[in-house]
Amino acid sequence: MLRGLMICPDSTLAGSLQEVLQETRQVDVVRDLDRYPENLELLRVLRAHTPEVLLISTEQVDKALAAVHLVEEHMPGLPIVAVSSHADASVLIQLVRTGVREFLSAPFQVGAVFEALGRVEQLAAKQPAGPSEIGHIYTFLPSKPGVGTSTVAVNAAIAMGRSVGARRKALLLDMDLSSGIVGFLLKITNLHSIIEAAENSHHLDESLWERLITRRQNLEILHSGRLNPDFRINSAQVQALMEFARRNYAAVCVDVSGNLERYSLEVMQESKQIFLVVTPEIPSLHLAREKLTFLQQLELAERVTVLLNRNHRRAVIGKDQIEGLLGVPVSMAFPNDYQGVHRALQAGRAVEPASELGKQFASFALRTLGDKAEASPKAKTESKKKLAEYFSLLPGRG
Ligand SMILES: Nc1ncnc2c1ncn2[C@@H]1O[C@H](COP(=O)(O)OP(=O)(O)O)[C@@H](O)[C@H]1O
Ligand SMILES: [Mg+2]
Repeated sequence: MLRGLMICPDSTLAGSLQEVLQETRQVDVVRDLDRYPENLELLRVLRAHTPEVLLISTEQVDKALAAVHLVEEHMPGLPIVAVSSHADASVLIQLVRTGVREFLSAPFQVGAVFEALGRVEQLAAKQPAGPSEIGHIYTFLPSKPGVGTSTVAVNAAIAMGRSVGARRKALLLDMDLSSGIVGFLLKITNLHSIIEAAENSHHLDESLWERLITRRQNLEILHSGRLNPDFRINSAQVQALMEFARRNYAAVCVDVSGNLERYSLEVMQESKQIFLVVTPEIPSLHLAREKLTFLQQLELAERVTVLLNRNHRRAVIGKDQIEGLLGVPVSMAFPNDYQGVHRALQAGRAVEPASELGKQFASFALRTLGDKAEASPKAKTESKKKLAEYFSLLPGRG
């Protein structure tokens, strides 16, 4: 199935398109936008989801064309299918002048849609630089300081480095400017930091990058440097840095502070997945819920899965209860291993791969990197609904 991005402000049209797509089973809509996005938003969506086909409705031709042009500039060759509630010759003519090659109008006939998407599949198969060459960004977000996010991010990144294959590498970025710890955890002595990378983000090249990063086997690390709570990485810098990282690495792990600063949110906008780290304790879960509500307003909540850290047998709150409480899946639990974490810290490296915790990191890395199958559109909407229902039952903050 092709990963599809759908832009369709007309909800009736969107509904019937989704229906026919589910029937033909050629396209899995990984993101649907109920509005024509601004350029920046569209770019982010393209990068975060690397769609293989764009389905765009034409009720506002100007806006649709603007989006099509942007896509052609940034993802040349991405097959574009125009969709409309009725066949309109003048719109068709305008579209044919662009790269749009397929046009579907309601009411959708399963046979016609199947054939058109069959041609799109052939087009997509010919694309040279497959999206698989472009790395994905993963944000590690603490529900509350001290839940172990940086520890998880460091170990997950090292495990990803081991799993990406000899030809490619993983990158770990410490973007916690107020209390970055990655450099300390890995005993990094390089004086260069993310600040310089941000300041030079518009002319990053291999030789400059070489000086900024520290290499540990198949993982490269950029730490946050001295404490810089007042430094802000601006939007353009985040963009440029993420683009550079994505082009050069198979996987990019970003450790953030949990203060939801603007630049952290921008990194999340660029991320394929956001891992919200919690511990099985009430304060952590309370703040996790608050963060999810906030992320939901930014339409980021559906990228969130929970990592349950410092889990132990006697924990009074279990995985199922956490899922019920937060309305998002707990994708993995990591055991509490104070000794193991402490030994790793002293040595400045990952926890022992043969330990229970070490094995969890390895399987987390494999699962995350191999996670091609995204939740089906239906499952997504359902989990979204569930979350919304849950929050609507909660009293507001006093
Ligand atoms: N799975 C674990 N088992 C035991 N201790 C852990 C585990 N994960 C993290 N810790 C400890 O928790 C503390 C906070 O970790 P840190 O990674 O700095 O959290 P955060 O980045 O969320 O603030 C550290 O002392 C760390 O050693
Ligand atoms: Mg941290």
